[in-house]
Amino acid sequence: MGEVSPPSGVDVTVPNVARMYDYYLGGKDNYAADREAAEKVIAVMPGSQAGARANRAFLVRAVRYLAAEAGITQFLDLGAGLPTQNNVHEVALSVNPDARVVYVDWDPVVCAHGRALVRTPHNVGVVEADLRRPDAILRHETTRALLDFDRPVAVMMVSILHFVDGSDDPQGIVAQYRDATAAGSHLVVSHLTGDLLEKARPEETERAKEIYRRTATPVHLRAHQQIHELFKGYDLVDPGLVWLTDWRPDEPDPDGPGAPDAADGPTLLRPDGRRGGTVEEAPGYGGRIPAYAGVGRKL
Ligand SMILES: C[S@@+](CC[C@H](N)C(=O)[O-])C[C@H]1O[C@@H](n2cnc3c(N)ncnc32)[C@H](O)[C@@H]1O
Repeated sequence: MGEVSPPSGVDVTVPNVARMYDYYLGGKDNYAADREAAEKVIAVMPGSQAGARANRAFLVRAVRYLAAEAGITQFLDLGAGLPTQNNVHEVALSVNPDARVVYVDWDPVVCAHGRALVRTPHNVGVVEADLRRPDAILRHETTRALLDFDRPVAVMMVSILHFVDGSDDPQGIVAQYRDATAAGSHLVVSHLTGDLLEKARPEETERAKEIYRRTATPVHLRAHQQIHELFKGYDLVDPGLVWLTDWRPDEPDPDGPGAPDAADGPTLLRPDGRRGGTVEEAPGYGGRIPAYAGVGRKL
């Protein structure tokens, strides 16, 4: 997009989380206001770009696990974001050419880009909707045409629930999707947390939250227990609700969780990429991505 004219009705003078996230990921689908806001966040939270990349890497690992090991062929990706590398349908279709994916986002720019990317409409659809209204999404003709709710569906809520205010009842929203899906369905969540940030860098955290308050979607950091409660009615698959980078990392790390010196608490990912230490020892936030991730299987 760069400085190409925006679609009508889109106010590019207001920073937008979809396009800020695209900027963190090194994408070009963002405008000056998005880049400026993202740079301000990066100035106070230098790990923001690494965090966005780690989040995408988690998403890819989760989809690969679901398609290759859990037998999931259907994906409902809520708050899907601007297309980037290794989109859900690309990963799922690479494992199973019959996989079906419905992308949902409320942002018209995201949806326009998503539709332009879809080459296989019998496999992939795009729904422009607010994920806080599950009924409308679940009944939408595109959803119904692509997904069979009598069979397991993976509901993806990756890096999105921290944009849902407590007054909108995130747990109730997740439960509505859970109740609409068959046993054996899965829930995928990654969620920013204040467990590290608010303790280690309270002022910077407040400044970053202030920048997000200028977007349509302020950030709501939640503690491990609150994020865990979103999985009510699901069994968390191994390794449970863990730091983002610790969810089934591609390369087993000899110094990672489970290693003797890491036994007493969540481990840190140091700036040099090695793990070790505990949250309490974190300088700043220690290079650790301040987000939890987990995948649950519906009972
Ligand atoms: C940080 S991006 C995450 C993209 C992708 N899920 C990922 O993890 O890479 C958040 C996305 O959620 C979308 N979003 C925020 N609030 C939403 C809502 N209430 N309904 C639908 N989409 C929403 C934004 O437009 C943005 O594209």
